[in-house]
Amino acid sequence: METPTTFNQSLQGKRVIILGGSSGLGLATAKAAGAEGANVVIVSGNQQRIDNALAELPAGSAGFSVDLSKEENIKTFFEHAGNFDHLVYTAGENLTLNTLDQTNIDEARTFFNLRYWGALTAVKYGAPHINAGGSISLTSGTASARPGSGWSIASSICGAMEGFVRAMAVELAPIRVNAVVPGVIKTNLWGSMSEADREGLYKSQADALLLKRVGEAEDIAFAFLYLMKQQFGTGQNMVIDGGAVLV
Ligand SMILES: NC(=O)c1ccc[n+]([C@@H]2O[C@H](COP(=O)([O-])OP(=O)(O)OC[C@H]3O[C@@H](n4cnc5c(N)ncnc54)[C@H](OP(=O)(O)O)[C@@H]3O)[C@@H](O)[C@H]2O)c1
Repeated sequence: METPTTFNQSLQGKRVIILGGSSGLGLATAKAAGAEGANVVIVSGNQQRIDNALAELPAGSAGFSVDLSKEENIKTFFEHAGNFDHLVYTAGENLTLNTLDQTNIDEARTFFNLRYWGALTAVKYGAPHINAGGSISLTSGTASARPGSGWSIASSICGAMEGFVRAMAVELAPIRVNAVVPGVIKTNLWGSMSEADREGLYKSQADALLLKRVGEAEDIAFAFLYLMKQQFGTGQNMVIDGGAVLV
């Protein structure tokens, strides 16, 4: 009989690549993994933000500027990245929300480029370099289950992502493939709103949530760390939302 899995779940010495690691959920995950002794590699599209992020990460962390909306760039990155243990994908631009009657279809298609096709492409070119026992963790959002008006495209991307996670768990096993499904979390994602609108959104969300606060990036980093370290869950979309899908 196959030897049971060892329960050494430490990230010490593990190599963790975080695409979207220069800010928000990705940076918080990079910090949390680095604090547990992982060798962290962050990737985003902006060298200045990578440099700022690296200043907050342990010495020995690395960062690369790659526009993840282009297949060729992702392919080239993984050709040179070497083997690693865990892939995390959190890259995404600021949200653009519109009711369907106001939606330009060609623009709407482009919203899938980074969040969905970027993640799929990263899995395609990254998975062959993942060491035994490794994992892939992607990002969805509670908009899949609880969209508001104007969320047709964002909700569609999240729904597609959650199906993709299940399909990849089957196809790439024994690599574990999961996603975190965050509710509203305070990050740069909401940076295109005015400060007053943003604070209004956070307050109205917090009032409505079971846990009476919106999330912090660290709440989600904790979930990504769990998905890397646990060794028996795959194909799961783990909701961390303060209870948003229940209210
Ligand atoms: N925050 C929330 O409330 C929330 C809730 C549900 C789901 N999500 C999802 O979680 C993901 C991460 O969001 P976040 O809150 O962490 O946002 P964020 O702080 O804005 O981080 C987004 C990351 O994506 C990178 N990025 C943007 N365009 C890129 C490109 N073309 N190539 C490479 N990297 C690029 C950014 O880096 P550079 O700017 O340096 O390129 C940054 O590292 C998104 O998909 C978002 O939809 C967030």
